Amino acid sequence: MYKVVEVPNDVLRQQCQRVTKFDKKLGKMIDRMFDTMYEYDGVGLAAPQINQPIRVAVVHTDDETGPVELINPEIIEASGSEIDDEGCLSMPGIFGPVERFEQIVVKSQDRLGRNVKIKANGFFARAIQHEMDHLDGILFTDKLVEKPRVVFMGTPEFAANTLREVIDAGYDVVGVVSQPDKPVGRKREIKPTPVKEVALAHDIPVLQPIKIREDYQALLDLKPDLIITAAYGQIVPTVVLEAPRFGAINVHASLLPKYRGGAPIHQAIIDGETETGVTIMYMVDRLDAGDMLSKIIVPIEERDTVGTMFDKLSAAGARLLIETLPQLIAGTLTPEAQQEEDVTFSPNISRERERLDFSRSGEDLYNQIRGMNPFPSAYTTLGTDRLKVYFAEKVPGTGTPGEIIALEADGPVIATGSEIALKLTDLQPAGKKRMDGTTFMRGVGQTLTIGQKVGEQA
Ligand code: CO
Repeated sequence: MYKVVEVPNDVLRQQCQRVTKFDKKLGKMIDRMFDTMYEYDGVGLAAPQINQPIRVAVVHTDDETGPVELINPEIIEASGSEIDDEGCLSMPGIFGPVERFEQIVVKSQDRLGRNVKIKANGFFARAIQHEMDHLDGILFTDKLVEKPRVVFMGTPEFAANTLREVIDAGYDVVGVVSQPDKPVGRKREIKPTPVKEVALAHDIPVLQPIKIREDYQALLDLKPDLIITAAYGQIVPTVVLEAPRFGAINVHASLLPKYRGGAPIHQAIIDGETETGVTIMYMVDRLDAGDMLSKIIVPIEERDTVGTMFDKLSAAGARLLIETLPQLIAGTLTPEAQQEEDVTFSPNISRERERLDFSRSGEDLYNQIRGMNPFPSAYTTLGTDRLKVYFAEKVPGTGTPGEIIALEADGPVIATGSEIALKLTDLQPAGKKRMDGTTFMRGVGQTLTIGQKVGEQA
């Protein structure tokens, strides 16, 4: 059995080589392709889907037409046309309407290199055409009957991943809107936003209005059929939201109506939630308040941070969007209103909330620390110096809140307002690099004493 390659993968986008050697190896590969296809419960499989960029495919739609192997296939006659839904083993969960010839005659070879002619119609013909497209690096999503002009609006890495998947799935992204470039890092270098970088790499025009509220005509001139936004960073005016015929949708990193607002990943971890997720919804002129189209749940593990959840949610969100779009375009989704009584908010993290207040419980502090890792990062103070805390271990121990109750080889242990103390194991002292607890204890940690208090000065 082979493992079927899934999008995005370059092997699915290649022009495959003709087969010239008809040996035992080829026969074996074809047998294994049939096994794999049956195992995955598919009706067709092309060699690039098992990572072999050669012109071989297998099809078995029903027992009347039987299993068919296609080697160097070519369509020599075609007639009629039919639109029907298709799916692909390389894009699990994704279906959409594609127009195909109704009847075809294919000239092909068998595993011994003998010429064969195959007449096919209906679903059998569709499956053959789908597999033959794979040999030319074409996916069925490239051929969806409704091919909306998509404008993508987004800014950070979370949105860049989503844009990449939308492009890879074959959608026609006619423009990208992103926040203006900003200076980043210590050198204050002007850098393009992650979304802009993806757009430029695919030769997609980029708009960066300072205020989309006033400066939106260029976007409307792109004549979008669909607007997709993900962490764009500005409120989009109603006149823009109402322009596309398939509407404007948003990918939001929470299970709405929980955690509307700008920091849903942070807040879910800070609150000690054990699951969160991604919601795709229509955009309206109120923050994250639109009707919901689809959702996916993602668990939050005990040691997850904003950083790890960001990666998980970004992948899940992109996937969910690719699954949702064909249904949205086909009009088969029923939007669901958000229950107002369940609404909660996740405002952007203010400076004040980064500070660790050791009178709170160890559990709350633990969640606050990982809910701010890697940005903006929680902190306490040592004397007048700031000490950033990126991670801590929960250990048993009591004392006056903020008091150092033990100095272990891998970190100082601080008492909290509960019976769970925190061993600081990932820190950054003022003017130094981020380091683990062991490194800290060999340096700054040497100056600490048991009974000393942290966090006494702002
Ligand atoms: Co396929």
